[in-house]
Amino acid sequence: MKGIILAGGSGTRLYPLTRAVSKQMLPCYDKPMIYYPLSVLMLAEIQDVLIISTPRDIPLFKELLGDGQWLGMRFEYAVQDKPRGLADAFIIGERFIGQDTVCLTLGDNIFFGRGFSLVLKNAVHKVESEQNGVVFGYYVKNPSSYGVVEFSSNWKVLSIEEKPERPKSHYAVPGLYFYDNDVVGIAKNIAPSARGEIEITAVNNTYLAADKLSVELLGRGMAWLDTGTYDGLLDASNFIATIQKREGMFISCVEEIAYLNQWITQDNLLTLASSYKTEYGDYLRQVAEGF
Ligand code: G1P
Repeated sequence: MKGIILAGGSGTRLYPLTRAVSKQMLPCYDKPMIYYPLSVLMLAEIQDVLIISTPRDIPLFKELLGDGQWLGMRFEYAVQDKPRGLADAFIIGERFIGQDTVCLTLGDNIFFGRGFSLVLKNAVHKVESEQNGVVFGYYVKNPSSYGVVEFSSNWKVLSIEEKPERPKSHYAVPGLYFYDNDVVGIAKNIAPSARGEIEITAVNNTYLAADKLSVELLGRGMAWLDTGTYDGLLDASNFIATIQKREGMFISCVEEIAYLNQWITQDNLLTLASSYKTEYGDYLRQVAEGF
């Protein structure tokens, strides 16, 4: 399976923070925001990743992440010159995806919770064995700024609505989507919505109509954090700081995951550790030395 991180958009909801730099490059406590979705792909054991961003921001992402070799991965980059919608990622990524299955993750979505790696591995397995789509449902207080799942009385998924004024449930669809190779053709056939975007929700409804969409509910206790506002960003940073300080284990530490996945050696990890004169570097050293 291939992975795509969509890190485009104009970030206007965070102005002036994002006037000169991509939102997905902003700090979430001790690391750039894009580390969090990158770690999700890594936990799903995806090694080939396409990073899509604006012409302005691509050079910065390249500087931060390089060709991926330092993590035992392969990174490619592609430009989205205008925010044409999430499903545009599959059109931009057509050549990169090739004949493979694909996972799309949004560069500003943060997930954390026990058992999440298993959830991810199950999604990969399902898509690869059943050739379908897998998305998630997460209970939120105010679902109307998201894609929202409508269920029948016996929890069968009836539809997904994009940013409904009157949501039919509290279950929002997070920015993490797994699909078979059909998604490329599906994305190409979607007409722009009223807001002028080719919506991921339309992709999901196409899979649903073909009875090929699985919506997995993420249970209570999983964290899915929004970083779309000043407060969301601060809350996410505080959440990460709180857990990391309490447990002494880092959230979404990409170097640690690469090491545990055996994509880099202990020596590689120690070399990375010695290049950071920070607590982050100390942590990498601890990971290499087995705590
Ligand atoms: C997008 C999707 C929406 C999804 C959300 C998750 O919203 O359109 O369906 O629930 O991401 O973060 P947008 O970022 O365009 O507001």
